[in-house]
Amino acid sequence: METIISGIQPSGIPTIGNYIGAMQHFVNLQDEYDCYFFIADLHSITVPQKKAELRKQILDLAALYLAVGLDPEKVKLFIQSEVPAHCEAAWMIQCATPIGELERMTQYKDKAQKQDTVNAGLLNYPTLMVSDIILYDAAKVPVGADQKQHLELTRNFVDRFNNKYAQKGQTLLVKPEPLIAKNGARIMSLQDPTKKMSKSDSNPKGFISMLDDADTIRKKIRSAVTDSEATIAYDPENRPAVANLLTIFSSVTGISIETLVATYEESGYGTFKNDLAEAIVDWITPIHERFHQLRESEELQEILTVGAIEANKKANKTLRRMKNALGLGRK
Ligand code: AMP
Ligand code: TRP
Repeated sequence: METIISGIQPSGIPTIGNYIGAMQHFVNLQDEYDCYFFIADLHSITVPQKKAELRKQILDLAALYLAVGLDPEKVKLFIQSEVPAHCEAAWMIQCATPIGELERMTQYKDKAQKQDTVNAGLLNYPTLMVSDIILYDAAKVPVGADQKQHLELTRNFVDRFNNKYAQKGQTLLVKPEPLIAKNGARIMSLQDPTKKMSKSDSNPKGFISMLDDADTIRKKIRSAVTDSEATIAYDPENRPAVANLLTIFSSVTGISIETLVATYEESGYGTFKNDLAEAIVDWITPIHERFHQLRESEELQEILTVGAIEANKKANKTLRRMKNALGLGRK
């Protein structure tokens, strides 16, 4: 069975963009692959976080992973900082990565722009992500389209490292492929369809969080920007705001975009938005129920403890291969 790994940062409550671009695919993949999913808390501290909020968001995210349908019998769910190998391997990766490659990353450029001082961790972020992926011998990495560049960096690193250090016939590091869903790979802000929907957006009207209550969802959909055309059509290039709403609608209901367009073509934005809001509420209500049950339970703690044990076991094996390849320590 091939291995899959993916992580989400606990830098806020996940948005429906995280769900559509990432989490829903995790659920679909759990039957076919050996899956590791984690809470990328070490990644989240590349920009300032508040201690109490971070702690809360880590557990919220863990409970949400399970509430949307991940089955702890099938997947290993763990917290990144509970597996020390991630940082150890990241250091080895940094020592073999030219700064120029990191400075070219668009996510780095975006995030650096928003900081007064740019810490080294922000630049090194992709090397930690390389580490997350290679430690588990992952063949596939399900992510949203925004992570494609980081996956390319990972693939280049693996080639370089293997060429330099692998012994004849040895699989030192596995080269991963990104798994990017075509439809809805990139959900945009409800207030600005040129920007991706992000849980760290300073304007909460731009995103719907996975824990927003029904009335908040209705309000946010009502105030979502559209355009001045009279009909509803799917045209991502010229009418990105409406295309984005259609993508969300289709993702939460499973109804095709074509059918939605045929249904709402002439009905006006009022009806369309109302129905969209109700569709999101219907879909999210049972997720909220499961979330609240889990969040308070001992079961969640146990799942994370078992996940960390399994993840450490797997990651330490790869770490040993890397240390041996580089000649670190004693055999
Ligand atoms: P992050 O929120 O940056 O930790 O991202 C976690 C996962 O969600 C990654 O696989 C991202 O590619 C995906 N993701 C984040 N925001 C969006 C979005 N607006 N649309 C689609 N996927 C997203
Ligand atoms: N960098 C990813 C993001 O911001 C999160 C992440 C960290 C990740 N490590 C990973 C995703 C490893 C996949 C695999 O979205």
